[in-house]
Amino acid sequence: MKLLVLLLSILSLTNSQEYSFPDDFLFGVATASYQVEGAWNESDKGENIWDHITHVNPSFVIDESNGDYACDSFHRIAEDVQILKDIGVNFYRFSLSWSRILPTGHINYVSDVGVEYYNNLIDELIANDITPFVTIFHWDITPFVTIFHWDLPQPLLELGARVDYAAKVFELFGDRVKNWITFNEPYQICEQGYSIGDLAPGYTQQGIGGYLCGHTILLAHAQAYQRYYSEFSEQGGRVGLVVHGVWGEPETDSEEDAAAAEAFVQMFFGWFLHPIYSDDGDYPPIMKEQIDALSAEQNFPRSRFPTFTEAQIESLKGASDFLGLNHYGAYLCRAANENDSTVIPSHWHDSGVYCYLSDEWEASASDWFSVTPWGLRSILNWIKDAYGNPEVIVTENGFTTTTGDVVDCRRVNYYNTYLQYLLEAIYEDECNVTGYTAWSVMDNFEWQFGYTAKFGLYSVDFDDENRTRTPKMSSYVYKNIIETRQIDTTYTPDGFDSCDADAATALTISALLISISVGLHFIAHYF
Ligand code: NOJ
Repeated sequence: MKLLVLLLSILSLTNSQEYSFPDDFLFGVATASYQVEGAWNESDKGENIWDHITHVNPSFVIDESNGDYACDSFHRIAEDVQILKDIGVNFYRFSLSWSRILPTGHINYVSDVGVEYYNNLIDELIANDITPFVTIFHWDITPFVTIFHWDLPQPLLELGARVDYAAKVFELFGDRVKNWITFNEPYQICEQGYSIGDLAPGYTQQGIGGYLCGHTILLAHAQAYQRYYSEFSEQGGRVGLVVHGVWGEPETDSEEDAAAAEAFVQMFFGWFLHPIYSDDGDYPPIMKEQIDALSAEQNFPRSRFPTFTEAQIESLKGASDFLGLNHYGAYLCRAANENDSTVIPSHWHDSGVYCYLSDEWEASASDWFSVTPWGLRSILNWIKDAYGNPEVIVTENGFTTTTGDVVDCRRVNYYNTYLQYLLEAIYEDECNVTGYTAWSVMDNFEWQFGYTAKFGLYSVDFDDENRTRTPKMSSYVYKNIIETRQIDTTYTPDGFDSCDADAATALTISALLISISVGLHFIAHYF
């Protein structure tokens, strides 16, 4: 039976598909300020945490590179918008650089040059019929070097400043920007920035730092959301939060593995969604119980996990107009055991779960995700079941390679298969997904991996000071999907050879492997 299902699904992926994207379904591409803009010290721009860490500690980034010049998008508005136009996207998701708009981090001083840059970008997009979709905080936040300032703890200082900054950009750009994202990926900002330390600012306070940061971000999100509705509602826009969701697939059919996979999704994804989307609000109960219990066992005088007041719980409930989902892949999960090496205390240890990438999955050039298109459908269904089918916009999805080759069949295959599962989630499961965003429009600075991991639909020549952009095959395939609103796995853009040769070989090999394994299974069973 399993074999039949597998063969049918292989066959279904070799053909054009029956479903079309709904007429009002929107397609976009995304970037973020530090990853593409460059111009790190242009005019009065302030220093942000990525400027700082890459300059004082270049080896923080694998290839010792930085975003000083990046794709130089700061100076290439017209060229970049033309690329978006050529791909045919409905919207462009980009982020604002806090330190470019507010060089000190505070609203006491607003940079005219920074504001002018974003005004020009927004106006150019609108003139070309492309909707601006704006992230207020990506990862290049303004640092507050003081830990205590007049006895005001840094998180509180940051919380206030973040909300002021959000309100300032609503005021500056909200006449034209109607789609706002407060924060991009709080888990990565917090766990990687304040617990594990592989993202700026690089703090390593496992089991504590990430939770405090996450708490601050959730509260800042709710306050920014409320500020929008109390002061700017006449602008008629909407405000959401973007969360990175890795799907947790149970390692086996056992109940224990199913529980572990569920705990993983609750504690890594639900952490930021439960307070907003669940009926009861607050953090996921499993998260509170496990961290409270382990904190007590570890002799902490109080739980390492912060608590919300009743008023804060109420302020977070429903505080998002859409759920932005960044999704790249799945993990296999099982309950952790004593042989799994984990830092204690840490978020991973608190989760009680061990997750990993299966060797059987096609790897990407990033060690943190593989090609598991079915995981997108699974996580969309999880959201639907857990939170009553809220509106979801896939705000990031894409594939990495180590080179910027324009013949990028593996990326083409990634987009075709993920979008196919997305269609199935919409039509067969009735998941409320209204938009999709490819990460990224062009190869760019991939944080701690520098320029070694490339996600672009366009390649960028980083040796050329003009940063020449060249369309990859995947950009034409994406354009064709947007135009036809269908996935055609046989589509080959002009000037390119078909990817079928590769796909056909892969299919023949997998069919052969399946026959061999079925044969062996048969022999083992009957003889
Ligand atoms: C997450 C982030 O939002 C983005 O900045 C990053 O480059 C991509 N996903 C890929 O890692």
